[in-house]
Amino acid sequence: MSTIRAVAIGCGHYLPKRVVENVEFEQWVETSDEWIRARTGIERRHFAADGELTSDLAYHASIDALNDAGIEASDIDAIVLATSTPDQTFPSTATKLQAKLGIKVGFAFDLQAVCAGFAYALTTANSLIISGQAKRILVIGAETFSRIMDWEDRTTCVLFGDGAGALILEAQEGNGSNEDRGVLSCDLNSDGTYNDILYVDGGVSSTQTTGVLKMEGQEVFKHAVKKLSSSGEAALEKIGLTGQDVDWIVPHQANLRIIKKTAQKMGVPMERVVVTVQDHGNTSAASIPLAMSVANKNGQIQKNQLLLTEAIGGGLAWGAIVLRW
Ligand code: UT7
Repeated sequence: MSTIRAVAIGCGHYLPKRVVENVEFEQWVETSDEWIRARTGIERRHFAADGELTSDLAYHASIDALNDAGIEASDIDAIVLATSTPDQTFPSTATKLQAKLGIKVGFAFDLQAVCAGFAYALTTANSLIISGQAKRILVIGAETFSRIMDWEDRTTCVLFGDGAGALILEAQEGNGSNEDRGVLSCDLNSDGTYNDILYVDGGVSSTQTTGVLKMEGQEVFKHAVKKLSSSGEAALEKIGLTGQDVDWIVPHQANLRIIKKTAQKMGVPMERVVVTVQDHGNTSAASIPLAMSVANKNGQIQKNQLLLTEAIGGGLAWGAIVLRW
């Protein structure tokens, strides 16, 4: 049966120039390269320069994705941008990006689901395409988490980085089977009773400050392995598939131990998991499109392969998407 699918036609990313190796943190807090590598898999991350905004990172990633797709910015009719570190409280970073790209038609908006932001953005963009609201959507995850770090808290400041990734989805006709290219299944979840294990201690209506990130790492870790694998399995089950059918997991890049345990639970060997956490750290909503773009450029993920992406973050909010590349 003929059906509309949201198919990825271009993918890109951008990382700020400044690379911060683990050893740099030894000057600021009581930590070590060995501890960070062993507990997280992170070796380095990128930090935005002073004055470099989330919308700037998003702009460069978008240009990379447009070039990859071989289309112009004017061919885009909607922008969905996932971020928890917007340039300003308002207007949306998506409309700032729209202006930077010179787009004057269509619509653009931000979406906030912290580290699960890209899974939520992809699901939203997929629905917009299926319902005929837009034909070509730029879906972006862009973050400057270095701006919300507590530089005296060694349990969090070593974990995060800045960056942006972009995916262009286009409405294409499929036959309704799992062999179609595009988004095949989505599974979103949240549970606000866990607000207090991962949050920022400031905000517009509460403190009128930006605040800094606070996390109960071990608690989040336990939820992550369980919820990511069950959401991944739920997304696959909706279309009658299992971990065996997946060519690549493109997971949220927070901690290599979480990535390994989750893949193991789903029965997917690490040879079929995209890992970039060593070079990017946790870039929140940017982590999945960044990993996708890196894996696309280095030839790991190939056209027509089956991808599973999964992410979890503050909320807690989590989800998984199955798409054929
Ligand atoms: O993207 C959003 C989702 N976020 C996540 O998925 C993060 C989930 N959590 C994690 O990745 C891990 O829990 C962490 C990497 C945050 C921490 O790893 P852990 O193995 O759970 O360590 P821990 O919190 O149990 O801490 C073990 C020890 C503690 O010392 P004591 O109490 O045993 O003496 C910490 O104080 O390691 C200490 N520690 C550090 N030591 C050196 C914590 N941070 C550091 C550090 N350097 N940076």
